[in-house]
Amino acid sequence: MKIKIGSRRNSGKFFKTLLAYQMYLVISILFVVPLGQSEVQESTASYSYVYEWSRRVSDYLSSSPIVRRFLGGGEPVTTPRLIQLQGYPCEAHQVTTEDGFIIVMHRIPYGLKGPHQKHSPLHSRPPIIVFHGLSQSSADWVINRPNEDALGFYLADAGYDVWLANQRGNAYSNRHVSLTTADSAFWENSIHEIGVYDLTAMINYTTAYTGQPRVHFIGYSSGCSPLLIALAKRPEYNEKVGLAILTAPGAFFNGFFFGLLRPTAVGASFYRVFDNLLGGFPFFSYALTNFLHRILPVLCHPKVDRLGFCLILIKVLLGDDHGFITQDKLSLITMVTPNAFSARILIHDWQMIGSGGFHEYDYGITKNKVIYGRAQPPEYNLTNVRVPVSIMVGAKDLLGSPLDAKSVARKLPNLVDFHYVQHLHFQHVDFCYAKGVGRLVYSRAVRMLDAYSYGNSYG
Ligand SMILES: *[C@@H]1O[C@H](CO)[C@@H](O)[C@H](O)[C@H]1NC(C)=O
Ligand SMILES: *[C@@H]1O[C@H](CO)[C@@H](O)[C@H](O)[C@H]1NC(C)=O
Repeated sequence: MKIKIGSRRNSGKFFKTLLAYQMYLVISILFVVPLGQSEVQESTASYSYVYEWSRRVSDYLSSSPIVRRFLGGGEPVTTPRLIQLQGYPCEAHQVTTEDGFIIVMHRIPYGLKGPHQKHSPLHSRPPIIVFHGLSQSSADWVINRPNEDALGFYLADAGYDVWLANQRGNAYSNRHVSLTTADSAFWENSIHEIGVYDLTAMINYTTAYTGQPRVHFIGYSSGCSPLLIALAKRPEYNEKVGLAILTAPGAFFNGFFFGLLRPTAVGASFYRVFDNLLGGFPFFSYALTNFLHRILPVLCHPKVDRLGFCLILIKVLLGDDHGFITQDKLSLITMVTPNAFSARILIHDWQMIGSGGFHEYDYGITKNKVIYGRAQPPEYNLTNVRVPVSIMVGAKDLLGSPLDAKSVARKLPNLVDFHYVQHLHFQHVDFCYAKGVGRLVYSRAVRMLDAYSYGNSYG
């Protein structure tokens, strides 16, 4: 009794979108408001009772071999473990930002295949920062198998020194020199600070550590925005970035899907008021993500979820990719995703859905005048992004629509490539998880990187 969403293409499309629209509203109402308080309530008895109870149930349920192998006796699945499981070297590096956040980067210094497998200090590998999307972490780049489609391993095997980023607030970058995650100030930041502070610190660190003049960058979805923001606000960092590859960039929000969401952007001012009054808060609390990482792999396991409900939900929410994501992947993905992040990131996104522009956070007129010296927040000046940029999009990507990628492309002074993935049904999540993404996307990325690392065009 498998429900095929993709086969009723014409009539189905409208209802899919409508359903997604409604679910987005329901999710935002159900999650954003109550979770604002969850970090504070985390220690209260009822919450931890539910958590403890569900942990026991999921422990009991997770007797399927695939889940057990990865859970390995109850230890959490971490990026270093996932990397070491595949036999690759892994290092964890701590980078402190100017505003005190302690960022963890996971490094795969060299690969196991190809001509670059032997690690030699004499043979320098070009460093590259790999930036995850919303609610993800470094782990999402090493879930797929090396000989298939995991970008972390793919780049290492292609001869690159891979630095997997973790943005502030996720499972790894969850510390600060003076704040704790229970402080609202810890969460008072949006993608703006991730670009201006987190990414610039990572660029500084990786270039200094490797002794290379420049570091390449590849970002996915909202993980492309930190690059654009960092270089727009601090153009001196253009000197330290080689090629920037943006896959399914999520900077502008004018595509079909977001056009439908535009009426909900009135919610953004509502939440902004909430945010301004009560301080920052995480969208997911750590207790919730830990719980989800235990329960979802079980609920979405092919043996439990026989109707394929998890996969249907992904197709409804994120677009039908005609089989690039398979059900057996979902147990792996949900062991490490979703991740905590500042709710202000979503509020900021929502503001941009409302305005259609790529601008700084809107604090409301009074505070804007203090911070920006004007009533409306300024747009990010993409003319400042002078590094060569390559963009890749899926023609039918609902979330990272080509229309929005073109808005970025038009504003960049040094666009070197704008590529449509050669498959009609390639969807947003496929850039990270799909079977076949190596062949369709990463191989082109490596060809471009090679040209800029070893070719004439790279100084
Ligand atoms: C990067 O390094 C420069 C000096 O090398 C320093 O002035 C700057 O503050 C550093 N930036 C970050 C974000 O740490
Ligand atoms: C954007 O930056 C460029 C220089 O990179 C400058 O010439 C231009 O005036 C800036 N635009 C705005 C609107 O500030």
